[in-house]
Parts: sequence; structure tokens; C-alpha cells
Amino acid sequence: MSPLLKLDHLRKSFGERCLLDLDGLKIEVGHAYAVTGDNGAGKTTLLRILAGIEPGEIAGFEFRGLPLTHGRVPEHARHDIVYVHQHPYLFHTSVAHNIGYGLAARGIDAAARGPLVEEAIAWAGVDHLRGVAPAKLSGGEKQRVALARARVLKPHLFLLDEPTANLDGEARGQAIALIRQLVGDNGSLLIACHDRELIELPGMRRFHLAGGKLVET
Ligand SMILES: Nc1ncnc2c1ncn2[C@@H]1O[C@H](COP(=O)(O)OP(=O)(O)OP(=O)(O)O)[C@@H](O)[C@H]1O
Ligand SMILES: [Mg+2]
Repeated sequence: MSPLLKLDHLRKSFGERCLLDLDGLKIEVGHAYAVTGDNGAGKTTLLRILAGIEPGEIAGFEFRGLPLTHGRVPEHARHDIVYVHQHPYLFHTSVAHNIGYGLAARGIDAAARGPLVEEAIAWAGVDHLRGVAPAKLSGGEKQRVALARARVLKPHLFLLDEPTANLDGEARGQAIALIRQLVGDNGSLLIACHDRELIELPGMRRFHLAGGKLVET
């Protein structure tokens, strides 16, 4: 089977400083990958480039067999690749609105969105938070809403940026349980993280980013 995503040589510089100088990256369908690396190694930047929200010098790119256009991650891929920020931004509306937002942006009408949002709310275990203003949610609750908001779009690739970095105790366990399900459901995921429990999830493949290079470990 051809890979989900195939990247040939990626360079990213900020001013004089070359941050990323990757020879390549291949992501297979239905596999999960953890990317470790020191603070400042460039994990977030790599995820943002793959999500199409940060430019990079990319020599070759294929996503689901289709090539790169105009040196950027193409529009069709940007629909299929969802990036979840370490500190998810939620609109000051409601949990349900936030989860349904991406569907609405894709032109799915309210009647069709309803059951999808309900299912996502149940999946993330946030039903009891419907009436809570999103700004008042805890870090763990926001992360769960963000994971639901990503999953409801049924992306071909999830890019999760340190999804448990600011969580501990029960909140961390709940986020890991959701990610474990995404992995177990044969999702394709690239997860920047330092969390040993995530790195050691069954089936997880591992990359390490250092000195601008990505090495499978
Ligand atoms: N827009 C920018 N302009 C200049 N430098 C930047 C910019 N964005 C990121 N950097 C620098 O690039 C480096 C890599 O940042 P990045 O956030 O990708 O690292 P990271 O591996 O995700 O780190 P962390 O583990 O702390 O999240 C940092 O030194 C950062 O300061
Ligand atoms: Mg980061």
C-alpha cells in the first residue's frame, strides 16, 4: 500500500537559523507515530508545516497519492489533516458549537451536524460540560473538546501537539484514553510528545527530532 504521506526533504529556517533539515518522512495508513525531541527542536514547527499552516521548503510531497502544489501542502490535504494545538483555542460559544464548527465550515448543514456532534460529545465524555462556557473549561476538558472537534471531521491524519503536556492525574489519563482509541481505531497519527505512556502505546512507532534531523528510533 502506498504511504498516506510521503515527504522528501524538508527545510525550514527562521532567519539565518536552519531549524529543520529532514531527509524525508513517511507516514503509513493506520499507524501512529510519536515525535520526541528537546524543547525547541522543532516538533511544533514540523506539525504546523505538515498541516499547511506554516510554510517550509519542501522538495517533494505526496498525500494519499497526490502531489504538492505550489510548494505548499495542498488544499485537499489540508482538509484531511487536522492539527490539534497544545493549548486548543475554543470559541466563546458552547462546547457543541466548537465541536461542530469544522463541520459547518465544510458546508455540512445543521441537521446533518447534529448527530455527528452528539456522537463526538459522547465519545469525548463531555456531555456534562454542554452548559459550561468554553473559557471556563479546565485544560484537560479543553483538550478533550479539541480531540472531539478533530475526530468529528474524520481526518486521514491527526497531528497532535503535546496533547498531555499540561495535564496530570485524571485529566491526563482521560486524554490518553481518547488518543489510545484513535490509535486503536486504526487512525493515522503523528504526535509530538514527551509523555512516556503515549510513546509506549501499543503499535506506536517512534521518531526523534534533533539537530534538524528526524530519525526513527
Ligand atoms: N515564527 C518564528 N520565528 C522565529 N523563530 C521561531 C518561530 N517559530 C518557532 N521558532 C523557533 O524555532 C524553534 C523550534 O520551535 P518549536 O516550537 O517548533 O519547538 P518544539 O520542539 O515544539 O519545542 P517545545 O518542546 O518547547 O514545544 C524554537 O527555538 C523557536 O523559538
Ligand atoms: Mg512544541
